Amino acid sequence: MTQLVALGADHGGFPLKEELLSWMKGQGYEVLDVGAHSFDPSDDYPDFAYAVAQAVASGKAPRGIIICGSGVGACIAANKVPGVRAGICHDTYSAHQGVEHDDMNVLCLGARIIGGALAAELVTAFLNARFSGEERHARRLRKVLDIESGTGPK
Ligand code: RB5
Repeated sequence: MTQLVALGADHGGFPLKEELLSWMKGQGYEVLDVGAHSFDPSDDYPDFAYAVAQAVASGKAPRGIIICGSGVGACIAANKVPGVRAGICHDTYSAHQGVEHDDMNVLCLGARIIGGALAAELVTAFLNARFSGEERHARRLRKVLDIESGTGPK
């Protein structure tokens, strides 16, 4: 099944983004590359995190991937956009369990932490996973959404 995946990175993640972009296209994924489109050592991760987050929150792309140096800044920025549930996952268990239990829709990666081979495995685990919908996970997700809406968990 092909699905549109939004992909973005700052200068810290740019080389890994280019590597992943090429690999993902080879795997048959449809990728929306929101930039950076060239290496610019003075660019800022919130710009690309926001572009990916907007694509996901608007429904244009069901899933997104953001890469910065550590994954931390990208994750913080993306989670500011309502509707986005971003997580940094540098192990495959988290990359699929975050979707299955938490309905994670944006994967954040740190290009100074992991290499291309592991990144490809993480992306595969993330994109192949589906939210389980089990009652306890749905209940917890509703509480997360309550927090997002400003009421706090009900
Ligand atoms: C950029 O140097 C670096 O701070 C950024 O890519 C990221 O690691 C932030 O979390």
